[in-house]
Amino acid sequence: MCGIVGAVAQRNVTPILVEGLRRLEYRGYDSAGVAVVDAGKKLHLTRAVGKVSQLAEALAAQPPQPGSGRIGIAHTRWATHGVPAERNSHPHVSRDVAVVHNGIIENHEELRAELTAAGFKFNSETDTEVAAHLIQHLIDQGQDLRTAVQNAIRRFHGAYALAVISATEPNHLLLARKGSPLCIGLGIGETFAASDATALLPVTNRFVYLDEGDLAEIRTDGYEIFDADGKTAQREVRISSQSADAADRGPYRHYMLKEIFEQPLALANTLEGRISEGHVLESFLGPKAGELLAKVERVQIAACGTSAHAGMVARYWIEEIARVPCAVDLASEFRYRDPVIEAGTLFITISQSGETADTLEALRHAKTKKIAASIVICNAPESSLVRESDIALMTHAGPERSVASTKAFTTQLMALALVTLLLARRRGLTAEKEKHYVKSLLSASAKVEQVLKQDDVLKKLAERLIHKQHALFLGRGTMFPVALEGALKLKEISYIHAEAYAAGELKHGPLALVDEHMPVIAVAPRDELLEKVKSNLQEVRARGGELIVFADQDAGFQNGPGVTVIGMPHADELIDPMIYTIPLQLLAYHVAVLKGTDVDQPRNLAKSVTVE
Ligand code: G6P
Repeated sequence: MCGIVGAVAQRNVTPILVEGLRRLEYRGYDSAGVAVVDAGKKLHLTRAVGKVSQLAEALAAQPPQPGSGRIGIAHTRWATHGVPAERNSHPHVSRDVAVVHNGIIENHEELRAELTAAGFKFNSETDTEVAAHLIQHLIDQGQDLRTAVQNAIRRFHGAYALAVISATEPNHLLLARKGSPLCIGLGIGETFAASDATALLPVTNRFVYLDEGDLAEIRTDGYEIFDADGKTAQREVRISSQSADAADRGPYRHYMLKEIFEQPLALANTLEGRISEGHVLESFLGPKAGELLAKVERVQIAACGTSAHAGMVARYWIEEIARVPCAVDLASEFRYRDPVIEAGTLFITISQSGETADTLEALRHAKTKKIAASIVICNAPESSLVRESDIALMTHAGPERSVASTKAFTTQLMALALVTLLLARRRGLTAEKEKHYVKSLLSASAKVEQVLKQDDVLKKLAERLIHKQHALFLGRGTMFPVALEGALKLKEISYIHAEAYAAGELKHGPLALVDEHMPVIAVAPRDELLEKVKSNLQEVRARGGELIVFADQDAGFQNGPGVTVIGMPHADELIDPMIYTIPLQLLAYHVAVLKGTDVDQPRNLAKSVTVE
């Protein structure tokens, strides 16, 4: 949710911290702050409501003194406890101690009462401020910074990642991880920390990921990690293959548009090295895959947001093509409903970031049962879900910076199609059929490219939606989750209220909403359900609703009064969900641009949700 950056160096770390925050802005962005230790061994605190650029302006107006700022922590906040305001922004300070925090300290009220009684004055409504005061309180009782942090975290219930500095011990920075991600970045004579390695790519590509319950100390000459029992622990050093520039916007006005246009390449990357001569290679799932997949009798999928929509599409495929029973749950519901998880279950999580708290907890819950195996479909190679799953199937979409997910979704679909074919082969899919499907997967990039050429048409169409208050999306079969995804895109970035329904449900309620003010957007490829969709659409027209139909160019839909048909390339049914998602992404994008919203960072949302 929030983003943390920290650094210890022999130079002023402020620019590194601010650049790190910029790169983490996707995690949350209602306020930001930096604390460094200045030359007089005092904390220099700068905080600002709004975006990181506002913090950078505040820092430029009042920079730390020359020769100072060799240790510091920084934070970009997405409000949980307390409104977005400077007093609630991090870092939180208690005399010499400054703390940044991601997550929630659930017993903060009890600690607040205790610290207030001990004479500490609270300036914010946040749960984080208790951490600063408690650590300072323990230092006042004679503990050094590390012991104080160690003892403080023993008192916290909840999930957190913490970075702590003290002006009286300016040579080291303390980190603690429980439930929220944190990594250490290794430089030469300098050491860094961040919620996500992306923040540190301009300064290093060597990372150490903290495990659950770890406490770490970083210094200019290295680092030390202690496990939950306080014993020194070794964690693997990983070299990141991501490059610092891959995340740049290039000629595009927004990351979202760039990422939409990257989809042909991203889809090809998902397939690369995974198919050969009309055959899906099982080996790319790792050495254990064959043995694990052999035990699979059913599939359970858990994911959130856009990733859950990918799971809903996959359910149709897994049941229809692989003939394996498949259930899909929103991860946030799954973990709390005491689900029956039978032996032989293949547990699939889907997550762009690999850090979504609900998805991670769903996996952890499933792992307590006798599942056959866990697979994560993920875009973040060094993430928690990747580390905790038996098998990780990386989508290779490249960094996705826009909060509204685009290429992550279509590449998740591609990865899920590969898993479907592997399962289907074990259930008797013929080599000939497999070859047919593989050929259609290989054609997806080119078809998506064709749809992207319709960008101008969609831009024009967007003008018709900007004054609408509501929109209805309809689809059947795999196009139902595609419609859900189209509605989600429109609402998250244009703030137009949008709902999606399975087309057959129209007359069971939503039809009551249809009048000349309600645009109805239908995704209707030429599949076996086409005729049914056509009659649903008649029902809309009969009530004066304006129809926008995305249909196969050969489907026989005609433009007419109140009906706009956008012809889509003819493709195999398997890849239709990837293709029909594209115009819905572009439509939402252009509506948002015309409405002047913050396309890449829509209000109230965050790219990576690491709290419940
Ligand atoms: C947030 C993002 C969505 C994303 C969802 C799940 O809400 O804004 O775009 O679909 O989290 O994230 P994940 O990283 O698990 O796919």
